[in-house]
Amino acid sequence: MSYNLLKGKKGIIFGALNVDSIAWKVALKAHEEGAEFILTNAPVALRMGELDELAKATGSDVVSADVTSMEDLENLFNKTAEKFGKIDFILHSIGMSVNVRKKIPYTESNYDFYAKGIDISAISFHRVMKIAKEKDIMNEWGSIVALSYIAAQLAIPGYNDMSDAKSLLESIARTFGYYYGLDKKVRVNTISQSPTKTTAGNGIKGFNSLYNFANSNSPLGNASSEACADYCITLFSDLTKYVTMQNLYHDGGFSKTAVTDRTMSHFEER
Ligand SMILES: NC(=O)c1ccc[n+]([C@@H]2O[C@H](COP(=O)([O-])OP(=O)(O)OC[C@H]3O[C@@H](n4cnc5c(N)ncnc54)[C@H](O)[C@@H]3O)[C@@H](O)[C@H]2O)c1
Repeated sequence: MSYNLLKGKKGIIFGALNVDSIAWKVALKAHEEGAEFILTNAPVALRMGELDELAKATGSDVVSADVTSMEDLENLFNKTAEKFGKIDFILHSIGMSVNVRKKIPYTESNYDFYAKGIDISAISFHRVMKIAKEKDIMNEWGSIVALSYIAAQLAIPGYNDMSDAKSLLESIARTFGYYYGLDKKVRVNTISQSPTKTTAGNGIKGFNSLYNFANSNSPLGNASSEACADYCITLFSDLTKYVTMQNLYHDGGFSKTAVTDRTMSHFEER
């Protein structure tokens, strides 16, 4: 059901890779709610060719941009400005760790890989907002959201250096959000999402166990990617104008639960 929550709003959506991607779901919902947007992803992701399908379904243009390249981002924001003038929302739905990909344990991290992962997964958020602010492309009360994970706060085996990337990402949201709010009334938040079955999620060592544990240990169970998309839409809408600089848990209560009865039942002594 559509509520027209984003009627007339324009934006940029980073990170839709395939139908499983959280950003893919956000794009479909944003379209349903009346938004227009540019879809963007790294050149290598575009070569896989699936994004065209989403572009068709949502009537969007696709612009290639590697978030580690200022040149690519400049081009993306110039094209966005040409098409829309100003915009109202940005979704940063990007994560990548070479240490995770290469299955290098956290305590044995390779530092070149570490730096690359932090650059793509966290510093890119700063870069995107820096360019947006310099170009003054955001309308007042615009909303910028990035996706995070509870490994920023809690030690979670297998999440590796992505934990550090997410801590930095959340800090950037808070700090940039302060300046962006003060100067331009733009809000910046992160959503800390439940484990979700996507390409990035499945790359984490022991992901299925992590997914099942979180599902068991949240009173409401894991939040789906569709539910995450709904939450993003509320943050892009005018109904959440005074929410900024927050890390918002969208996890069925996992972050506030030590243990559920469901989980405890696995440990009964016999
Ligand atoms: N899947 C989960 O369990 C989960 C849980 C919490 C948070 N998140 C976060 O959600 C976000 C989206 O991930 P997803 O789970 O939808 O997986 P996904 O694999 O579908 O999305 C990750 C995206 O990052 C893009 N990307 C990687 N390197 C890039 C670069 N250099 N330039 C531009 N884009 C690049 C990929 O192409 C891909 O589209 C990530 O920030 C992820 O950490 C995921």
